[in-house]
Amino acid sequence: MISMLKLKTELSVLFIILSVALSQAQPSTAYMEKYNASMKRTEWFRKARFGMFIHYGVYAIPGRGEWVQSNERMSVEEYRKYVDAFVPSSYKPAAWASLAKEAGMQYAVMTAKHHDGFCLFDSKHTDYKISRNLPGRDFVKEYVEAFRAQGLKVGLYYSLIDWHHPDYPNVGNHPMRENKDWKNDKRNWDNYLNYMHSQIKELMTNYGKIDILWLDYSFDDYQGEKWKAKELIAMIRSLQPDIILNNRLVFNEGNSAQKRKFEGYGDFETPEMGIPEVPVVDIYDNPLPWETCLTLNNNWGFSFNDNEWKSPETIVNALVEVTSKGGNLLLNVGPEPQGTIPAPCQAVLKEVGVWMKANHESIYGCGKAELEKPVWGYFTQNGKALYAHWTNPKIGNINIKGYADRVESVTMLHDGKRAATATKWWGNEDAGNFFINLKEPIHFTYALPDKIDTVLKIVLKK
Ligand code: GLC
Repeated sequence: MISMLKLKTELSVLFIILSVALSQAQPSTAYMEKYNASMKRTEWFRKARFGMFIHYGVYAIPGRGEWVQSNERMSVEEYRKYVDAFVPSSYKPAAWASLAKEAGMQYAVMTAKHHDGFCLFDSKHTDYKISRNLPGRDFVKEYVEAFRAQGLKVGLYYSLIDWHHPDYPNVGNHPMRENKDWKNDKRNWDNYLNYMHSQIKELMTNYGKIDILWLDYSFDDYQGEKWKAKELIAMIRSLQPDIILNNRLVFNEGNSAQKRKFEGYGDFETPEMGIPEVPVVDIYDNPLPWETCLTLNNNWGFSFNDNEWKSPETIVNALVEVTSKGGNLLLNVGPEPQGTIPAPCQAVLKEVGVWMKANHESIYGCGKAELEKPVWGYFTQNGKALYAHWTNPKIGNINIKGYADRVESVTMLHDGKRAATATKWWGNEDAGNFFINLKEPIHFTYALPDKIDTVLKIVLKK
């Protein structure tokens, strides 16, 4: 009995010592150097907050999402009818770029090659590319030019996985996973790696300054050094020193992005189809840049039957929420076969743009605020400017307790008019109150002028 007790006590002492040691663990100088370099690279990105993801390719023809080849277990031969039919002579990325601009987006990421292996760029290393169907065309070149012309930053998505390359093995969700004759002993992994590295080199060499490289994705053993990631990153950075890389050269469970060890494999985390509960940090609690990627309906690639479009309100809310947690939103569009962005999707983006036109100041350059999330909405902050995003209609006014002496001015962001403020309100006299309402008298309830999100700009004293 006594020895059991003693053992228990010793174990708990050991546990306490261990936890203290762990909580005091300091990052090494080398770690911090890498981290700081990455923070410097991502400076513009963390200010931009809002980007357009574009999933465009052969899969727009069947119109059942970009995974159609895998979902329907199609061989390369079976997929060929779609490849042959992909002749988008009316492809005009300038229309995408002006829509992105109108929506208030600051950058874009387009699929140069998705998992099906078909390239939208003029690669020397394959004939499986757009110029096979439209001689002389290079859709990546046309895309980067169109987006740059609108003053937007340009990013490229490149799939690490390739369902077309003969040396890419039958692993993971390969379309041939149930085909017993499709064996791996004929595959030469080094050949594939060589192909993949060479194509990325082309993308890093032939299109001028590329701002983001979005690699997708790692799974099981297919991660990190299996892709020769260090060599790959060294090559990428030697050609594009300022480029920002996502984190998918390593496998991240569910892409949930919490307490990540920043391994230098990428500059930002990529939670998919969800917003992290709290701002993403590394194991030492340093903030990590992150970007939620989100579809506007429920598919990345064009899908005939998917008409579940998110509302402008949902999108603005998502954008405000990610900003309030120090993250970005990469919002997807899946153009139709000829390259047109579906009309309902355009309509949502345009409405988001109306809100952004009046309120972008509360998004760009903003991040997590010094105040916790209020019940009536969100806070974002940029230095002395605190933005109250009043999203939920609420009785009376909002109270920012303890701020009475700290506020210089409160205005409505969309029209610059002064909001009403007071430290006392009938029935609520305790000290430290700072009530804000849209107009006088302070104790009435008014309809919020912007049903989506009415933003109040609170300028703080030094
Ligand atoms: C996943 C999917 C892919 C999509 C991507 C976007 O990795 O495989 O189809 O492009 O997520 O984040």
